[in-house]
This record gives sequence, structure tokens and C-alpha cells, in this order.
Amino acid sequence: MSTSSGAVKSLYVEPERAEQEIDWPALQFNDVFKIFRSGPVETVALRGFGMRVERGELVAVLGPSGCGKSTMLALASALDQPSAGEVRVGEWSLSLLDETALADYRARGVALVLQRDNLWPALTARENVIVSLRIAGRSDPGPAADQALAAFGLGDRVRQRAGSLSGGEQQRVAIAGAAARQAPLVLADEPTGELDHANERLVLDALRELRDSFGSTVVAVTHSARVARAADRVVEMRDGRALA
Ligand SMILES: Nc1ncnc2c1ncn2[C@@H]1O[C@H](COP(=O)(O)OP(=O)(O)O)[C@@H](O)[C@H]1O
Ligand SMILES: [Mg+2]
Repeated sequence: MSTSSGAVKSLYVEPERAEQEIDWPALQFNDVFKIFRSGPVETVALRGFGMRVERGELVAVLGPSGCGKSTMLALASALDQPSAGEVRVGEWSLSLLDETALADYRARGVALVLQRDNLWPALTARENVIVSLRIAGRSDPGPAADQALAAFGLGDRVRQRAGSLSGGEQQRVAIAGAAARQAPLVLADEPTGELDHANERLVLDALRELRDSFGSTVVAVTHSARVARAADRVVEMRDGRALA
């Protein structure tokens, strides 16, 4: 390429656009690699992973064990960093945020629901939601906790210790906590992995309720065909990549 064409290119000016004209996706992975090294062993968990999730979508991510699903969620929740590529949340590229902004994102911008052990078992359902609200910096968290627990059909469970709730109820308390925090992005890692069909249905309904009534974007990693059917869209993963 000649130097003159380089000079012409440099004259290009990005047109100014109002912020609200730009339709930022809720979550976007651009050609993301994640390589784990331990001694001489190298594992490529993500190899050029790409995915775009629009605001208000409920996306199911399907793929065999070891294909990189949990690694992908760890990057989306800013618990780990990519080896290469970009993870964007709305208008922000996570790798460009400083520690303060990342801490704020983890506390307020995203909620992670795991397969189990999302709650402090010795605290009641209500106390669990209240603690997560306090961590997110909310003053007077009681009413928001009560409202969210009631919205997910847990009104009669608020004073019960989380450790004595059924697995399905525990998952719904965790989801109610994400709703109470008004987390714009909720990431769930096999949220129904340990549940029977009846409880899986209730947890699925809760994820849809998150999307419909609380406006959250939901990305649920799953092995379950039922979860996939309930989603707006399915992204299939194999060997660290998204299938086209
Ligand atoms: N912290 C880690 N150190 C080394 N290897 C890891 C680490 N986390 C994940 N891996 C490897 O990366 C690959 C993808 O793992 P993971 O994202 O947990 O897959 P999935 O959730 O789809 O089962 C696997 O081969 C796994 O062993
Ligand atoms: Mg996993």
C-alpha cells in the first residue's frame, strides 16, 4: 500500500452521533482467547470465541463439558481476564476499566448464579438478599428484598435458613437477589444442573421473570434441552468457539 493512500485514510473523521443512537449490546465477545498455563501444560479454553447478546435477551449457551462455558462466564463477570480479544459490556470494554470501575461492575453491573452454593446457608433467605444488596451499596435494603422474594413466590420462605431450603428454592432466592439488585446482566452457570424437572421449570420461570419484569439480560449456560427451548436464542459452543 502506498503512503498516499495512508494519508487519505487518515482524513476520515468518525461522524458524531448522539449516545442514545448507538445500540450497545448487553454483552459482546470479540475474538476472545483464554489460555491457562500451569508449568509446561497449556489449555486453550477459549479460541476465538465471539458472541453478541442484545439487551433484554435470554440466551442459552449449550456445549459439552470442557468447551469453555464457565471460562466465558468468568470473563463476562470480570472475575478473570482474556489472554487476547475483547469483552464488552454495553459501551465499556472490560479490559479498559480500572480496578474501581471493575469493582463497581462486579457489585452492581452483573450477577452470577452458579449451580449451587450461591447463598450463606446459616442466614435466612431474606438476610441473604439483604446482604447482597448491602454489598451493592444499597441503603434500606429490606423493602427491595421483600418485594423481590415475593415476586419469585418465596414470600413464605423469607425467615427460613437458606441451608434448609430445597435446591430449587435456593436457586430462586439467588435469582431474587439478582432481581433485587436490579442487575442489568445476569449470568447463570448450569442453574438447574442439580434440580428435578419440576424445580427446573420453576427456576426457568424465574429466569424469564428476571427478563420480563426486571429488564435483565440473561445468559444461562446449560446442558438442559428444556432450558434451551425456553430461551430466546441458543448459542452452541464447541472447543472454545461459538458454532455459527
Ligand atoms: N483455572 C484453570 N486452570 C487450568 N485450566 C483450566 C482452568 N479453568 C478451566 N480450565 C480448562 O479450560 C477448559 C474449559 O473449562 P470450562 O470453562 O470450565 O468448561 P465448561 O464450563 O464448558 O465445562 C477445560 O479444559 C478446563 O480444564
Ligand atoms: Mg462449567
